Amino acid sequence: MSVDLRVVTDESAVAQAAADVVAGVIRVRPEAVIGFPTGVTPVRLYAELAARVARGELDCSRVTAVALDEYLGVAPSDPRSFADFLRRHVLEPLGISGARAALLDGTPAPDDVLVGRCLAHERAILEAGGVELQIVGIGRNGHLGFNEPGTPFRSRTRVTALAAATRVVNALEFAPDPVPMAALTQGLATIEEARTILLVATGDAKAAAVAAAFAGPVEVSCPASVLQRHADVRAVLDGAAASLWAPLADAATGYPA
Ligand code: GLP
Repeated sequence: MSVDLRVVTDESAVAQAAADVVAGVIRVRPEAVIGFPTGVTPVRLYAELAARVARGELDCSRVTAVALDEYLGVAPSDPRSFADFLRRHVLEPLGISGARAALLDGTPAPDDVLVGRCLAHERAILEAGGVELQIVGIGRNGHLGFNEPGTPFRSRTRVTALAAATRVVNALEFAPDPVPMAALTQGLATIEEARTILLVATGDAKAAAVAAAFAGPVEVSCPASVLQRHADVRAVLDGAAASLWAPLADAATGYPA
């Protein structure tokens, strides 16, 4: 395992440190293909990147953006869709045109059409030259994207069922409607092929998942443990998210705040 770890004081320091990683990749390769997750965690990171773009410190206009996942049954025009989230938090504020974005379409459709969309996503990644940097959050149950516990490490972009626990965590976003039962997601093998993976996690609720991902056995019960097999993982955590990763308990204070 090769994890370059930064444990910092709070969410805003996490956003700064993670933005430094993203900006560093874009500086070296302005036309980088970057995978962007959704969720609460990356919102501050995206706001920090947007601020750097607005100040003229960062140019993302040649970046290609790739979606990590999407709810099945939620059309891209729906404000609850991940496609809409990425347009609002990533594409528009970072100045990435729609033509340079490979999003996932969760509009309900027959199975063969859904399979076609998943294959098209894999093809789009390949044709773009592969993902340079995949940013990921982590689910409380250790999921990456919507790869729930039990997902084979060889999995590719596909339709998959959501775990009950995930549907509970995301219930507020959909209330009073039920949370979708399924999603489209990059597979673990798809994620693992990114040249660099940046994991961002904050808060106590993620501590057990972070510990399982980096210090637990590499097994499908914790999908994020697949990261231990990767040669270039950067993890940016706040102290709360790092708190159960035992080897860190002492080391944490030694990292830059
Ligand atoms: C969601 C997404 C993941 C995300 C995770 C954590 O279900 N599918 O890509 O990383 O849950 O989200 P949050 O950052 O809101 O805790």
